[in-house]
Amino acid sequence: MSGSDGSAGRVGTGVAGLDEMLGGGYPRGHVVLVTGLPGTGKTCLALQFLLDGARHGERGVFLSLEEDAPQLLESARQFGWPVDAAVDKGVLKILRLDPKETRQNLHRIQGELGQELSGLGAKRIVVDSVSLLNMLSDEEAGRRATLFALAAACRGSGATTVLTAEADPLHPEVSRDGLTEYVADGVIVLGYRTASDGHRVGLSLRVLKMRRTAHVRSVQPYAIGPSGLTVDAKAVDLG
Ligand SMILES: Nc1ncnc2c1ncn2[C@@H]1O[C@H](COP(=O)(O)OP(=O)(O)OP(=O)(O)O)[C@@H](O)[C@H]1O
Ligand SMILES: [Mg+2]
Repeated sequence: MSGSDGSAGRVGTGVAGLDEMLGGGYPRGHVVLVTGLPGTGKTCLALQFLLDGARHGERGVFLSLEEDAPQLLESARQFGWPVDAAVDKGVLKILRLDPKETRQNLHRIQGELGQELSGLGAKRIVVDSVSLLNMLSDEEAGRRATLFALAAACRGSGATTVLTAEADPLHPEVSRDGLTEYVADGVIVLGYRTASDGHRVGLSLRVLKMRRTAHVRSVQPYAIGPSGLTVDAKAVDLG
C-alpha cells in the first residue's frame, strides 16, 4: 500500500514490496536509516520516498550533502518520475548542504534546522548522506552530538525521515560510523548478494529494525529497474 492514507500511522515508502515488508510503510514520525555499499540504490530509495509523498500532495525536503540538485533531478528523470512537476508545485525541495562548510553546517544542524524544516511544512525529509556529515567532526562525541541534533531536528518538525549512510566495506551490515543505527528508529540494509565464488549476483534488502513494527526479518531480493527499486517481498528467504 502506498501513500499516507493507507494503514493507520504509516507512510508509504514509494518502493513496491517494501511497504508490504513493513506492514504498510514507515511508521509516521520515524527516523529511518538506509545503509548500503556504493551503488546499492540508497539515493534512489530516498527519492522514491519523497516522490510517493509528492503524489499525495505531501511536501518533502531532500537535504543533500552529496549530489547537487541538477544531478538528483537527472537521476529521477531517467526513471520517468515526475520530479520537475513536484519541484514546480513546491511539494519537493532540494537543499544542498556543502560538506566543506563545516562550521556553518554544524551550527545550522544544532540551531535553526528544526525550525527551518517546520517552516517549510515538510512531511517527509531525506538526508543523503549522514556519512559526509560525520566527517565534519573529528571525534566520536562530536559525531554523536551532530547525529542526535539532526535526528531531533527531523523528529521535532513532525516529519517522517530517511537518513542514508555508507556501509562499512568490511562489515556491510552496519554503517561506516556505527552510530546512526542507535539514533534511528528503523534500519534498512541494502547489500550485494554474493555467490560461493565471491561474485556479486544481485541485490538484497533486510529490515534490521523498525520500532513498533512487526516487520519481515528475512533477506529479500530487490532490483533497480526502469522505474526504480522494487523489492520481491514474496521470494523465499535468502538467509
Ligand atoms: N536506469 C537505471 N536502470 C537500472 N539501474 C539503474 C538505473 N540507473 C541507476 N541504476 C543503478 O542504480 C545505481 C545507483 O543508485 P544510487 O545512486 O541510488 O546508489 P547509492 O547507494 O546512492 O550510491 P552511492 O553510495 O554511490 O551514493 C547504479 O549504480 C546502477 O546500478
Ligand atoms: Mg547516493
